[in-house]
Amino acid sequence: MTNDNSLSRELLFEPLTLRGLTISNRIVMAPMTRGFCPDGVPHDGVATYYRRRAEGGAGLILTEGVAVDHPSALGDAGLQECNVPFLAGEASLAGWRHVVDEVHAVGGRIIPQLWHQGVMRKRGTGPYPSAPTLSPSGIWGPLGMTSIDPQSIPADPVIGEPMTEAEIEEVIEAFVRCARNAAAVGFDGIALHGGHGYLLDNFLWEQTNRRDDRWGGDRTRRSAFPAEIVRRIRAAVGDDLPIFFRFSQWKQQDFRATLADNPAELAEVLMPLADAGVDVFDASVRYYNRAAFDGSPMNLAGWARRVTGKMSVAVGGIGASQGMYDKGTSDVAAIDYTPLLQRFANKEFDLVAVGRAMIGDPAWGNKFRSGQLPRPYDQQDVKTLA
Ligand SMILES: Cc1cc2nc3c(=O)[nH]c(=O)nc-3n(C[C@H](O)[C@H](O)[C@H](O)COP(=O)(O)O)c2cc1C
Repeated sequence: MTNDNSLSRELLFEPLTLRGLTISNRIVMAPMTRGFCPDGVPHDGVATYYRRRAEGGAGLILTEGVAVDHPSALGDAGLQECNVPFLAGEASLAGWRHVVDEVHAVGGRIIPQLWHQGVMRKRGTGPYPSAPTLSPSGIWGPLGMTSIDPQSIPADPVIGEPMTEAEIEEVIEAFVRCARNAAAVGFDGIALHGGHGYLLDNFLWEQTNRRDDRWGGDRTRRSAFPAEIVRRIRAAVGDDLPIFFRFSQWKQQDFRATLADNPAELAEVLMPLADAGVDVFDASVRYYNRAAFDGSPMNLAGWARRVTGKMSVAVGGIGASQGMYDKGTSDVAAIDYTPLLQRFANKEFDLVAVGRAMIGDPAWGNKFRSGQLPRPYDQQDVKTLA
């Protein structure tokens, strides 16, 4: 048994309704690229992998990043870039339909994370090597504290031309097409990857968005492109499906980068997205229990909730003692869930996402509930799909 808490873990096992979706508990599997979808197709092993996490107590699964239906979406990006799934084409849609059915059969819910790599895509790689690498201003960004392998860092930060108006429209349409496909195969909502230095984040970050047209300028204007995607997705899929938006202060280019240095600035970034139709902000940090801004212990998910009035997801080091990018195996027996439960009880956030620990143990949710120790995540686990 792990440490006992004064607050009951049952707090996280209350259902939640978001538009037309009811989730049986507050435990979410965080989106994690796995690279087990050759030719962009999720096969039976992927369906079994997700079904096991739903059976194991994850009320909601956010899938691995799914490439949007545009040639520029995917390539080598310093992560496990190969074999990333698509959400277009007969084989890929049939694969996803099977994944969704398997998860639903055990009472789980599942939402795909739509992903465009933006400046992180290495030119000349991916399923369409001749496609251009697209970004708002053709700028990779300044290098700060990063774990990107030096060979993946471009010698010249200017990696291309600013996206044209036609390219912007094409990419918006690619997101919308995938959202429609997601609804058609039975997914329970739409999630957008707006963090970590990828395309949507390239628009949000002043270092990669130097535009002076309607897609750039101050924080609010830099949110215009992701907000337009949200608006168009909402119009395409109707009112029933919730839209999740993941954002992060940190970028792979620079872990210390920020979009906002205080709550008022955060509101400038997020309100255009909230107004466009985002229901839940997924605030990606490496340690959920760190203060987002000076003067309050509240974390980034808490501030996202506070400034927008929308729901939020906390993530980062919940089931692991080291944050993502920090090496070593977690000492799962030493994890104290009291701060998590206290923050949740204080309504800092509505959902709790668990990443690596859920790769390590598909039954993480059920074990958390009963106080059993989960099998700890080991970095080798990313190499298999179990
Ligand atoms: C193998 C791996 C792949 C990941 N892929 C994605 C991804 O596709 N999209 C995303 O938004 N975050 C991705 N992440 C970040 C996780 O969603 C999560 O935010 C991070 O692991 C921190 O949570 P944790 O401390 O519980 O692991 C990935 C993380 C790992 C370990």
